[in-house]
Amino acid sequence: MFAAPLISLALAGIAAASPAVPPQPKARNPQCNFWANVRDRFINEIFLGVCAQDVHSLVRISFHDAIGFSLHSDKGGGADGSMIKFQDVELTYPANEGIDFIVSFLQPFADDVGISYGDAIMFGTAVGMSLCPGAPRLPGFVGRPDATRPAPDKTVPEPQDSLATIFARMADAGFTPTELVHLLASHSMASQAGIDPSPDLLGAPFDSTPFDFDSQVFLEVMLKATSFPAGGSGANVGEAMSPLPGEFRVLSDSRFARDNRTACAWQANALSQSSMASNFATTFKKMSLLGQTQSKLLDCSEVIGTPPPAKNKQAFFPAGTNHGLIEQACATQAFPTTLSTVAGRATPIPVVQLQNCPTCPTFK
Ligand code: HEM
Repeated sequence: MFAAPLISLALAGIAAASPAVPPQPKARNPQCNFWANVRDRFINEIFLGVCAQDVHSLVRISFHDAIGFSLHSDKGGGADGSMIKFQDVELTYPANEGIDFIVSFLQPFADDVGISYGDAIMFGTAVGMSLCPGAPRLPGFVGRPDATRPAPDKTVPEPQDSLATIFARMADAGFTPTELVHLLASHSMASQAGIDPSPDLLGAPFDSTPFDFDSQVFLEVMLKATSFPAGGSGANVGEAMSPLPGEFRVLSDSRFARDNRTACAWQANALSQSSMASNFATTFKKMSLLGQTQSKLLDCSEVIGTPPPAKNKQAFFPAGTNHGLIEQACATQAFPTTLSTVAGRATPIPVVQLQNCPTCPTFK
């Protein structure tokens, strides 16, 4: 397993000099008072008030934990925290490379606060996303019991898997190809460290605005690719060429944008930030309840804060790109010519690090 190269804010011991966090909602249900405190501890001790690497890592583990589930066979308990409880088993699976990073500080945090690992992952993701510009407000269900068994290997899709394999795995867990595209809005706040571990590419982002939950990743993955990012090792397993310097394209994302089963949903997300966000929220709720019975959980969504508004209501063509580079695969809707283009030449997109985060002013 590769060493996690991106330093967690919490692990880095960055002082709790967090930027001002907007006032958080009070609990009306007295049972949710405890969870309002857990939320504050997440914000102050894990995220330090910003939507950055630790939030991204939480969102990723939320998928890897929950998707260990099958409607048709015994493939794990779903959103149950087994990724943490049975980390000795699950973190050895190739698809979970790099997840050890978030597990290493989420486990002691959950133990100290006194919450189950399943709740730490899903409630923590909802709290983290509430700090991200453009994100939807996610539900805060709590009370997941401890996992009783690890998920087996091969429940988490890998970027080099065929689309048939990925769609079959997602269908086995109850998700259509369109729902998968909705979940992939998460890749709008994402970077890589494991497909190409070259030092220059640690934190190489999937789009030009990796600190925002916006439509850019959908537009930018549709652009004609030109090269592998400089400083990297080139054509790695699971990697596709990208259209912008510094940008990293995941092979499966490239295929989803061009396959007739997913291309229209992909393009629709490129064209509407608001429906992208609401579709993500709906599908994320379903994912966060895999293996759980909603009526047995406590709904403390009222303590989840409202995320800041999206900075860009509409996707744009980054400098150096234009409408002519769109590789459109949706047969039923032409890609509009109305989106704006940033003037000038393409400049390298920086890696995901605090000093490159426009919404993390305290840490500049
Ligand atoms: C076909 C399905 C998917 C594939 C093949 C896939 C693949 C990947 C890969 C290869 C990475 C980079 C990991 C690394 O090198 O560090 C990544 C990152 C990420 N993925 Fe996915 N992913 C999928 C679905 C999802 C879903 C459904 C979610 C959440 C709902 C998600 C959330 C994320 C996030 C937030 C990151 C960035 C993590 C970070 O920056 O630390 N992914 N994904």
